[in-house]
Amino acid sequence: MIVLGANSDISQAFIDKILSENKDKYRKIYLVTSNPDKTERLAKHIQVKHKQESEIIFFDVTKNSDYSVFDTVETDLLFCATGFLGENTEEGLYDDKNTEKIIEINYSKLVPLITLFARKFENRKEGTIIGLSSVAGLRGRQSNFIYGSSKAGFMVYLDGLRNYLFHKNVHVITVLPGFMDTEMTAGLQLPAPLTAAPQKAAEVIYKAYKKKRNKIYVIGIWRFIMLIVRNIPEVIFKKMKM
Ligand SMILES: NC(=O)c1ccc[n+]([C@@H]2O[C@H](COP(=O)([O-])OP(=O)(O)OC[C@H]3O[C@@H](n4cnc5c(N)ncnc54)[C@H](OP(=O)(O)O)[C@@H]3O)[C@@H](O)[C@H]2O)c1
Repeated sequence: MIVLGANSDISQAFIDKILSENKDKYRKIYLVTSNPDKTERLAKHIQVKHKQESEIIFFDVTKNSDYSVFDTVETDLLFCATGFLGENTEEGLYDDKNTEKIIEINYSKLVPLITLFARKFENRKEGTIIGLSSVAGLRGRQSNFIYGSSKAGFMVYLDGLRNYLFHKNVHVITVLPGFMDTEMTAGLQLPAPLTAAPQKAAEVIYKAYKKKRNKIYVIGIWRFIMLIVRNIPEVIFKKMKM
C-alpha cells in the first residue's frame, strides 16, 4: 500500500484500520510525505502496533518532480489524503503564492503523481486508488472557492480516471468528506453533528474499499446538504454569505 499525505490524521486512521483488518496482507507500506521527520513517529507506530514494515518517501509535490523515487514501488492500493486548505480569507484571495500553492497541492502537482500509479495499476491489471476530494468542490462559494475549485478539479479527475480504469480492472474511489476533525481544521469552529473524526472516515472508506464503491460521503447527511446547496438558484445563491 502507498499512502500520499502520510501525516494526515485520516491517513493514519486508515492505515490503522486496514492493518488491523488485514493481518499479513501488506508486505510493506510506503509513506509519502513532505515532512519526513513527523512521519518517523507514524512509521514507529506501525512497527510497534502492527509489526509492519514501512518506508518513508520524501516527496513535496510543490518542489519535487523526480518521480524516479517511485520506480521500485510495487503496490495495488494507493490512498491519497494530500491536500491544502490555504488562506481562504480576503487577503489570501489576492495572494498569488497562496492561490498557486492551493492549486498545486490539491490538483496540478498531485494529478501527475496519481497518474503515475494509475499507469502502474493499469499495467498490473489490478489495483485501487482512493482519493480524498471535498464537498467544497461541489459548488463554488465565496468562503473558499480557490480551495473548492482545486478540489472540484481533483474530483472530476478521479471520476474520469475511474471511468477510464474500469476497463482495465482498476478501481477508483472518490471520497467527499464534509467537515473533519483534523489538523487542517484545528482552531475552526465546526458544528459537531456535521463533523467526523478521522477514525469514522477510516471506517467508512475501508467499507467502501471492500465494497468497491465509487463516490462516497463520510457523513451521509452531507449528501442531502449538498443536494440543497447545489440546487439553490444562482440569483439567490450569490447574495448569500456562504
Ligand atoms: N479536514 C477537513 O475538514 C476536510 C474536509 C474535506 C476534505 N478534506 C481533505 O481530506 C484530506 C486530508 O485532510 P486532513 O484534514 O487530514 O488535512 P491535513 O492534516 O492538512 O492533511 C493533508 C496532508 O497533505 C499533505 N501535504 C500538504 N502539503 C503537501 C505538499 N506540499 N506535498 C506533499 N504532501 C503535502 C500533508 O502530509 P505530509 O505532512 O505527510 O506531507 C498533510 O498531512 C485533504 O485532501 C483535505 O483536503 C479535509
